[in-house]
Amino acid sequence: MKTEETKRERGEGEVGEAGKAGKAGKAGKAGKAGEEEDLVDARMGKVKHKIMVMSGKGGVGKTTVAANLAFALAMRGLDVGLMDADIHGPDIPKILGIEEQRPEVSEEAGKMRPILVTPRLKAMSIGFLLPDTDSPIIWRGPMKMNAIRQFLSDVEWGELDYLVVDLPPGTGDEPLSVAQLLKNVDGAIIVTTPQDLALLDSRKAVNFAGVLKVPVVGIIENMSGFVCPHCGKETRIFKYGGGERAAAELGVPFLGRVPLDSKMVEAADSGTPFVLQREAEATAREAFEQIVEKVRAFVEADPKLKQREF
Ligand SMILES: Nc1ncnc2c1ncn2[C@@H]1O[C@H](COP(=O)(O)OP(=O)(O)OP(=O)(O)O)[C@@H](O)[C@H]1O
Ligand SMILES: [Mg+2]
Repeated sequence: MKTEETKRERGEGEVGEAGKAGKAGKAGKAGKAGEEEDLVDARMGKVKHKIMVMSGKGGVGKTTVAANLAFALAMRGLDVGLMDADIHGPDIPKILGIEEQRPEVSEEAGKMRPILVTPRLKAMSIGFLLPDTDSPIIWRGPMKMNAIRQFLSDVEWGELDYLVVDLPPGTGDEPLSVAQLLKNVDGAIIVTTPQDLALLDSRKAVNFAGVLKVPVVGIIENMSGFVCPHCGKETRIFKYGGGERAAAELGVPFLGRVPLDSKMVEAADSGTPFVLQREAEATAREAFEQIVEKVRAFVEADPKLKQREF
């Protein structure tokens, strides 16, 4: 357990297994896996934009960003899907406060409906399929790839403007599977914290996006400065500016910084996205709103203007 946790903290994974399985699925086993991949293509053909949220290391705020981005887009009148590709640590049900929900079986045999969080926001997570929240999932690469493939092929997402994919930390099987299966991801958002070390973690994530041929939307510096709710003084707990420096050095856009706000922790624990929380620090919410606009500008720009190759 300790080894697994340490590995996860460091964002290490078993790169390659899912890749091998993926290739075998399409080329070798023309049967079921091939059919499923055709189904993925058919379903994902109805999704205009696909974004993945990733990071070099754990606990930096990916799930917070993914859930709030999905909510913010849905609040702007867009149809949004939120897919939790974190198979070992599915946090989307918790952060949305819908852990008890279970997907309905659809009329199509063997298919299911995503959870309707709001009329415009649908979510899917392995967490909705577990008997309880304490059950660990002990799966290796090919099984994780299968679960992700099924989330994309067997879930009735319908027509979507955006699919936001929340990933586990690091450069493991899940981002590889998502990028291979989706084929044309519009962009990866990289979340980091402000320490100098952020550069190392961000570099790993940016390079990995390059390997996956996914354009980088930009870097978000999360937990950047803490404004004391009592005296208003700002304390830079995790230093400041690491994410921005990393973006400049790596030649990718800087999307903005989100301050450390204890209300955000409460919001996440109580299952209410902080973009909906009036009490959340206005600076955090405003910072996030600007990030959402930058993401939209990148993703909805003329595709010819986007740099896809590295
Ligand atoms: N700006 C912030 N201010 C305060 N707390 C935050 C902020 N961003 C995230 N958190 C909190 O930090 C914790 C970790 O965030 P989150 O789960 O989003 O990270 P993660 O990168 O998805 O983690 P993992 O790598 O384990 O999937 C959560 O409790 C979340 O509520
Ligand atoms: Mg997470």
